[in-house]
Amino acid sequence: MKAIQFDSYGNPDVLQVTEVDTPRPAAGEIVIDVAAAGVNPIDWKIRRGLMAEQIPLQFPAGLGFDAAGTVTAIGEGVTDLAVGDQVYGTGRSTYAEQAVLSAWAPIPSGISVESAAGWGSAVETAVRILDQLGIGSGQTVLVSGAAGGVGTATVRLAVARGATVIGTAGPANQDYLTDLGAIPVVYGDGLVDRVAAVAPNGVDAALDISGAGVLPELIKLTGDPAKVLSIADFTAPGLGAQVSSSSSDAPAAFAEAARTPDFDIPVDRRYPLAEAAAAQEYSEAGHVRGKIILTVE
Ligand SMILES: NC(=O)c1ccc[n+]([C@@H]2O[C@H](COP(=O)([O-])OP(=O)(O)OC[C@H]3O[C@@H](n4cnc5c(N)ncnc54)[C@H](OP(=O)(O)O)[C@@H]3O)[C@@H](O)[C@H]2O)c1
Repeated sequence: MKAIQFDSYGNPDVLQVTEVDTPRPAAGEIVIDVAAAGVNPIDWKIRRGLMAEQIPLQFPAGLGFDAAGTVTAIGEGVTDLAVGDQVYGTGRSTYAEQAVLSAWAPIPSGISVESAAGWGSAVETAVRILDQLGIGSGQTVLVSGAAGGVGTATVRLAVARGATVIGTAGPANQDYLTDLGAIPVVYGDGLVDRVAAVAPNGVDAALDISGAGVLPELIKLTGDPAKVLSIADFTAPGLGAQVSSSSSDAPAAFAEAARTPDFDIPVDRRYPLAEAAAAQEYSEAGHVRGKIILTVE
């Protein structure tokens, strides 16, 4: 089968379509025929070697954590699905015609396999950080970087939990945030005043999704660094704020998405698998609205 692999860290052109063996599921895993794979910023960070300490690789290496498709093999101990089922989830080396998933869920009715391909990591992360800050009904939460993959999932799930959500994005994404159910605010100089103007009773918690260097502003708005959490700015602990980086209970997160009415993450761009390099360039430019996916013929 074909997979995207690379054999040294570098620019997008290190990514090559390669013929590799079909993966096999270990206990507790499944293998799917990938219909589409989700692209995440961590993929190009790994390719560049920025994650070499945290995620050591053996070359040649695959890429990708998210995918959706049809189950072809089931590992020992897996009892909740059958070969032929359509699922999405998280796994490894998902930029490929077949991939191993270690966490999965059925694709909810009304959701395309392409959309679901982008859900895995975004949904797992969104639920993890909302839980870590205890976001629920009646709270006002600020989401910095609300228009990307994790931001979209976080806004939708927080709104469904009954929170009032203020989201930041660039001017072109203000209407998008309104459609998600957030109060939109443009990021950049003057952020504290603009957020305060739409949150007269204050902000209970703030989530830094984009890692754009706004932790001091978020701490000022919440009045307490412990109410601020970042997934992309690891200076947070030095300021008394929280970070979150390791995956938690993905199936529980997928279940929350499934019971959230109208939950989806729009697909911004789709690329054929062989154009993974172009997909990563677009991700790296930093202005994805929703998700990028790779489609497999
Ligand atoms: N720690 C973890 O567990 C974990 C898990 C998942 C992701 N992450 C990290 O979290 C970050 C976000 O991931 P993602 O998948 O959501 O990325 P993404 O989809 O690529 O995010 C793109 C979004 O970032 C927004 N953005 C760009 N500059 C911004 C700024 N200055 N202020 C606010 N928003 C800005 C863009 O909005 P505009 O187009 O409107 O500018 C765009 O919608 C990445 O660094 C990723 O590696 C960490």
